[in-house]
Amino acid sequence: MNPGNRRTALITGASAGIGAALARVYASEGWDLILTARRAGPLEALAEDLRRTGCAVTVLTADLADPAAPRALYDAILERGLMVDALVNNAGFSRTAGFLQTDPADHAAMIRVMLTAPVELARLFAPDMVARSYGRIINVASLAGRMPATGGDTLYGPIKSFLIKASQGLFLELKDTGVHVTALCPGYTLTEFHDVNGTREEVSSAYPAWMWQTAEHVARVGYEAVEANRPQVTPGFMNNVLAGLAKHLPDRVALNMVGGHAKRLKRI
Ligand SMILES: NC(=O)c1ccc[n+]([C@@H]2O[C@H](COP(=O)([O-])OP(=O)(O)OC[C@H]3O[C@@H](n4cnc5c(N)ncnc54)[C@H](OP(=O)(O)O)[C@@H]3O)[C@@H](O)[C@H]2O)c1
Repeated sequence: MNPGNRRTALITGASAGIGAALARVYASEGWDLILTARRAGPLEALAEDLRRTGCAVTVLTADLADPAAPRALYDAILERGLMVDALVNNAGFSRTAGFLQTDPADHAAMIRVMLTAPVELARLFAPDMVARSYGRIINVASLAGRMPATGGDTLYGPIKSFLIKASQGLFLELKDTGVHVTALCPGYTLTEFHDVNGTREEVSSAYPAWMWQTAEHVARVGYEAVEANRPQVTPGFMNNVLAGLAKHLPDRVALNMVGGHAKRLKRI
């Protein structure tokens, strides 16, 4: 625990969307924060807002596509004499142009930001958590990780499936250590995500309002799940129905079902 007996959460991808909402939830629960993402402006604006509530906030910019970033973050945090009691691996993005049309550098960045960096950050921070018999790790995966593969954003679902399985394994390993691990699997959530990948118009017309959740709701569900030590949580009743359906349908039928999704987005 840091000076003043407050716990500290490190949140990646905190400059927007679900990460920023998680920062607000953690602050409202009395935690201090370390916020990271590439854009300093939105991080500083959020930090300023949260400091008014009495929360100590440290901003560290980092590009998690850079292989050196996880270690550099860990070192920067140690240098400041801070301890991380909760790690929220949230940063992420997708590319939807299709496998062959996507720049290989973007594929590499997706894998680094959403797969390698979360693994490395957990490997860096979890030993200290175990040594202190207290820790929380949220890996923000996706409903896509529980569904059959999709065309268009070919690597996104598999990366999120990896994150779910890796979280489950870590949950089992750390079960009796005081460290809780949760994979948070949101469905469609109102954030900057679909603006960044350029599908805002298509997803808004293809999917009705009831399928969309707010980042605030997703963040609250994630926070409560990790506190309750649930290895996995998917916010939203209908999202769980969809994932359950996909799991029990024959592979080919399930794949066709999701193929329809890709067509609705005019991807393939
Ligand atoms: N929105 C959805 O429908 C949805 C559904 C399921 C799962 N998710 C997952 O939820 C997580 C958060 O996404 P969101 O919906 O909140 O999207 P968002 O609003 O676009 O936020 C994404 C965050 O990730 C950060 N980020 C992106 N690339 C980065 C990089 N190279 N290095 C460091 N930070 C990076 C962004 O910050 P900077 O640009 O400042 O670096 C931003 O803070 C992601 O893992 C996403 O896959 C989203």
